[in-house]
Amino acid sequence: MTSSDSAFVGRIPEIYEELLVPLVFAEPAGHLAAAVLASDPHDILETAAGTGVLTRVLVAGGAASITATDLNEPMLVAAEALCPSERVSWQVADALSLPVPEASYDVVACQFGVMFFPDKVRGYAEARRVLRPGGSFHFNAWDRLEANPAWAVVSNALNAVVRTPLGFLRRMPYSYYDAELIASHLEAAGYTDFEVRRMTGTSVSDADHTARAICQGTPLRGEIEAHPEIDVERATEVATAALREAYGDGGFEAPISWLQVSAS
Ligand SMILES: C[S@@+](CC[C@H](N)C(=O)[O-])C[C@H]1O[C@@H](n2cnc3c(N)ncnc32)[C@H](O)[C@@H]1O
Repeated sequence: MTSSDSAFVGRIPEIYEELLVPLVFAEPAGHLAAAVLASDPHDILETAAGTGVLTRVLVAGGAASITATDLNEPMLVAAEALCPSERVSWQVADALSLPVPEASYDVVACQFGVMFFPDKVRGYAEARRVLRPGGSFHFNAWDRLEANPAWAVVSNALNAVVRTPLGFLRRMPYSYYDAELIASHLEAAGYTDFEVRRMTGTSVSDADHTARAICQGTPLRGEIEAHPEIDVERATEVATAALREAYGDGGFEAPISWLQVSAS
């Protein structure tokens, strides 16, 4: 893990919300929200809420009070502006050390945040600590990079033009797809009942938008900016060209795959 790996700051929140949320985060949010709301919870804690795509679905789909937290304040500032609901309170918080009393929530939800936890067991144990008896923890994580092929195209194209690899995508968002490993981390954190489901969906976009989203709207941007051999503009051009070669000049649909997990 490098210092920029969890830095969703600067221009990233704006580009993340504009380009990445519709590309790959909105569809999984619908599935995760259905699991979160199935027990009709009264109080929900969301960790790694980002710009709030899941929060908005939870607000629209239920009547719960939601505490939405994230490590990076700029993500939450963007989220709050998009979701001025009285039922949501926003709080900067590390999911590994929540400023919350134990047994205060019916459900903890985390969409595509656990891959960034430096200590998964500690993050899961912290979610369990704040759950009321009978409560549940629902989260998701991306499947392997090759099961999300538009992202693999970009990763491979960038690494074909630099000598020192750009490793963010494999190191962070696409690093945590082993269902047995996830189960072992949950067990170590004290969960006794859990289900890991592999989910599939579709991202609909074009080469230009997808390249900008990936190279400019994620912490890959920070890794590119610190890289001696390439800059953000050149990386975006390389990614666009590779996506055009793979999918053509017009709009395209690419499969996406992730794991959805429920634990109690
Ligand atoms: C891929 S984004 C997901 C954001 C949002 N849940 C979504 O679905 O769009 C990952 C988020 O995890 C947050 N994050 C990273 N490490 C974290 C930690 N230790 N505690 C809380 N949030 C963290 C980042 O700030 C970022 O907003």
